[in-house]
Amino acid sequence: MKRIFWLIPCFLVLFSVHSFAQQNDKSKMDLFINNLMNKMTLDEKIGQLNLPGSGDIVTGQAKSSDIGKKIKAGQVGGLFNIKGVEKIREVQRVAVEESRLKIPLLFGMDVIHGYETTFPIPLALSCSWNLKMIEQTARVAAIEASASGINWTFSPMVDICRDPRWGRIAEGSGEDAYLGSQIAAAMVKGYQGDYSLNSNIMACVKHYALYGAAEAGRDYNTTDMSRIRMFNEYLPPYKAAVDAGVGSVMASFNEVDGIPATGNKFLMTDVLRNQWGFKGFVVTDYTGINEMIDHGMGDLQQVSALALNAGIDMDMVGEGFLLTLKKSLQQGKVKLSQINNACRLILEAKYKLGLFDNPYKYCDLQRSKTEVYTPAHKKFAREAAAESFVLLKNKDGLLPLKKTGKIALIGPLANSKENMPGTWSVATILKNSISVKEGLENAVGNGAQILYAKGSNIEADSNLEKRGTMFGREIGRDNRTEKELLDEALEIASQSDVIIAALGEASEMSGESSSRSHIDMPHTQLKLLKALVKTGKPVVLVLFTGRPLTITWENKNVPAILNVWFGGSEAGNAIADVLFGDVNPSGKLSTTFPQNIGQVPLYYNHKNTGRPLPEGKWFEKFRSNYLDVSNDPLYPFGFGLSYSDFEYSDITVSSKKVKGNATLTASVTVTNKSKTDGKEVVQLYIRDIVGSVTRPVKELKGFKKVTIKAGESQKVSFQITPSDLKFYNYNLKYDWEAGDFNIMIGGNSRDVKSVMINWVK
Ligand code: BGC
Repeated sequence: MKRIFWLIPCFLVLFSVHSFAQQNDKSKMDLFINNLMNKMTLDEKIGQLNLPGSGDIVTGQAKSSDIGKKIKAGQVGGLFNIKGVEKIREVQRVAVEESRLKIPLLFGMDVIHGYETTFPIPLALSCSWNLKMIEQTARVAAIEASASGINWTFSPMVDICRDPRWGRIAEGSGEDAYLGSQIAAAMVKGYQGDYSLNSNIMACVKHYALYGAAEAGRDYNTTDMSRIRMFNEYLPPYKAAVDAGVGSVMASFNEVDGIPATGNKFLMTDVLRNQWGFKGFVVTDYTGINEMIDHGMGDLQQVSALALNAGIDMDMVGEGFLLTLKKSLQQGKVKLSQINNACRLILEAKYKLGLFDNPYKYCDLQRSKTEVYTPAHKKFAREAAAESFVLLKNKDGLLPLKKTGKIALIGPLANSKENMPGTWSVATILKNSISVKEGLENAVGNGAQILYAKGSNIEADSNLEKRGTMFGREIGRDNRTEKELLDEALEIASQSDVIIAALGEASEMSGESSSRSHIDMPHTQLKLLKALVKTGKPVVLVLFTGRPLTITWENKNVPAILNVWFGGSEAGNAIADVLFGDVNPSGKLSTTFPQNIGQVPLYYNHKNTGRPLPEGKWFEKFRSNYLDVSNDPLYPFGFGLSYSDFEYSDITVSSKKVKGNATLTASVTVTNKSKTDGKEVVQLYIRDIVGSVTRPVKELKGFKKVTIKAGESQKVSFQITPSDLKFYNYNLKYDWEAGDFNIMIGGNSRDVKSVMINWVK
C-alpha cells in the first residue's frame, strides 16, 4: 500500500513534466504563428481558408481555375484529390518557393478505405468488430497516402444510418452509435498517431452532422430530428472522433433544424467547440457554402458570411470565402477576429503536421516506391477482407467447400476486377484487384476445376449501374442477349457439382449520390439465380453489396449466402479463403437487413411504443405492426454465422443489487461445440426499463471478439459502470437514472441471454 503512495508524487511529477512540455510546444507554436500572421495581409489570411479541388477527381459542380496563379498569390490553403507524389511535390514547391510568405499547402484526399492497397468498404470493415484491425487499416492507409504526398484524409466517415436506400451507408459503420464511436476513435488513432512520423496524416471526421438521416434515404436530402435523438443516437461518433483528437471536421451538406450544417452555429460552435472542446478546424464539404444559395439562405456573400459566423474555417471548392469575405468585413458582416481565428487554426494544423519544418515531409519519392501496395499490405488487406464478410446462411453446412470436383462460378461479379474495391476508392488501381475467379483459381490449383460463365449483366437496363459511376469507370457489359447469357450459364451449371453465384450490386450502386428506392437484387440477376437454384445443384450465393439488401427470396431458397460487401484489392483471394474454409467467417452485421423496403427505417435499438407486439407474435390488431409483414428483420443487427457453433451459458452477475459508482461484472461462458476453431463477437446489450424519457428496447454497451478453439469454452466478462447507463435526458443533461436494468449478452442483438438487476444511486 505504502508503495502506491510513493507512486503518486512520481506520477504527478511526470504528469506536470508532460503538461509543461505540451504547454511549451503550444507556446512555441503560438509564437511562430503570431509572427507569421503579423506578416500576412488580409488577402493572404483569406487565402488560407480556400481549398480548391485539383480537378483530378470531381464530385460536384464548381472547379477552380488558375490554381497555379492563386497558389503564387497566397490564395490557396490546401489542395485536394491530387494524385501522384511528384505532382504534389511540384505544387508544394511552388507554394514554398514562389509565394510571398512561403506557406506550405495541405494536400487532402478521400483515402476512405485504404489508398492503393484497398481495404473493404467501411461498412464491411465495421462488420469485423475488430477495432485493432480497423485501426491498422487506417494506419496502412496513412502510410501509403503519406508516401504519395497526402497529408490529410477526409476520413473517418461516421454518419449513423438506418436507411439502406441511402447509398452512402457503404461509407460508414452502420446503424449503432456505440460501435460507430469505437470505430471512429480507432480510425483517428490509426491515421494520425501523434503526428510525429511522416506516415501520420491528419484525419477529418465527416459529415457533421446527421448526414446519414437524409429523409427517404435520398442523398443530400433534409434531415430533421429531435435534439434528444440527435444527442443519444447520431452525434456520439463525431464526438468520439473529437475526443480522440481528430484534427479536422467536415460539415455536411444537409440541413439540421432548418439551417444547413454549413451555416449552423448551434452545430459548429455551440456543440462542437463549446461543449466538446474541439480545437482543430472545420472544412465545408464540396461547394457546401455555395449550396446554401439553393437551400435558400441568400446570395454568395450572405452564405459565405453565414458559414464563417457559424464556425466554418475552410471553404472546399466553392471560393465563396475568397470572393466575398473582404467585402463582408468592410460592411461589418463578419469580424476580423473570425478570419484571424480560422486562419490560425489552419496554420496550426500545418504546424502540427510539421510542414513548416519540412514542407516536403510527405513528398519522399523513395517512400512512394517502397511503401505503397507492398506484399505485407496486400496480405493484411486479404485478412481484413475475410474478417469483414458475414455468413448469412449455411444450410446443412454446405460451406466450406472442398477444393475438388467441378465448381461452376457464375455471375456478373465473378470475373470482375473493377467491382472489387467498392465506392470511394480513388487511389486504387483497378487492374490490380483480385477477382473472384482469380481468387478461386489461386486457391484450388489443380485440385478442382473452375468453370466460369457470366450468366447476366448487372441489370438488363444498364442505367442502374451507369448512373452510379462517379469517376467514369468503365462498365464491362456483355452484348449478348439475356437468354444467350443464361443458356451458357445453365450449360456450365449442368456440368458442375456445386454452383457459386457471384451476384449483387455493382460497386458504384452504393456510395455518393447512389440512393436506391428498391434495395433488392437487380432483376436480371434474380432471374439467373432462380434458374440456377432450379437446377437442383447446391448453390452458394456470394453477395456483393454496399448496403443491406432485401433478399427474402434468396434467404428462403438458396442454401448458403456469404455477404462479401466490396472487399478491396484482395477481395477474390479472401473470398476463396472463406469459401474453402481456410478462414472461418466471423463478421457480424453492423446494420439490420430488412425483409422489405416498407419496413425501413428498421433498427435494433428502437423504442418499445405504447402498443408493442407481444413476444412470439407477428401480428395483432391494434398493435404497432403491419398487415403484410412481421416486424422482424431478415437478419438482425449483430448477426453473422460461423463454421463453428457457439453456445452461450446463462449470465452470471457479481450482484443483482448495485449501488452508486460500483462496477458490475456480467459474464457468460461461450462454448465452441464444433470441430472448427472460430472467432465469436460476444455482445453486451442493456435496457433501461424505466426512464424520465422513453428508452430503447436495448442498446449495445460492449463487445469482445474472442477466439475459441474447437470443443473449448471461454468465460467472457463485461465490467459495467454507471457511465454505461448514461443518456441525454429531456434537458440534454448526460446522466443515469436509478432503477431496473435488463442485462443481455449474446451473439447478435436478437438471440440473447438476459438477467434483471437493480441499480440505485
Ligand atoms: C463528399 C465528401 C468528400 C468530398 C471531397 C464530397 O462530394 O461528400 O465526402 O470528402 O466530396 O472529395
